[in-house]
Amino acid sequence: MKKVEAIIRAEDFNRVKSALKQIGVLPLTAYPVQGRGVQGGIPPYDLLPKMKVEIIVKDGDLDRVVSTIIRNARSGSPGDGKIFISPVEDAIRIRTGERGNEALY
Ligand SMILES: Nc1ncnc2c1ncn2[C@@H]1O[C@H](COP(=O)(O)OP(=O)(O)OP(=O)(O)O)[C@@H](O)[C@H]1O
Ligand SMILES: [Mg+2]
Repeated sequence: MKKVEAIIRAEDFNRVKSALKQIGVLPLTAYPVQGRGVQGGIPPYDLLPKMKVEIIVKDGDLDRVVSTIIRNARSGSPGDGKIFISPVEDAIRIRTGERGNEALY
């Protein structure tokens, strides 16, 4: 399992969300964040508002999820965002006790 953390433009969030649904990946956590990249914000703003989307995915779905996010969040201009990927040790669906991939979706 992998954790995909995508920090994207807020205005791209609905499109990314719909595209993920279309590839069958429905669960996600999303929240508004503030951040800066290599340009260090846009004067006079140190931090710019973005949307953060977190999804724990099966290893076999990682490439599809990442390419779906990129396809729907890339404008080609600075500030399109970034994706971080990290390993996840386990997941547990509280209702059933299922673990690992079974607990995801
Ligand atoms: N190294 C990082 N660590 C933590 N958060 C980051 C990092 N890089 C980017 N972010 C987050 O991602 C958001 C968007 O980053 P951004 O797209 O501006 O990256 P960038 O590296 O500056 O690329 P670009 O040159 O395309 O703008 C930032 O506002 C910040 O929240
Ligand atoms: Mg930037």
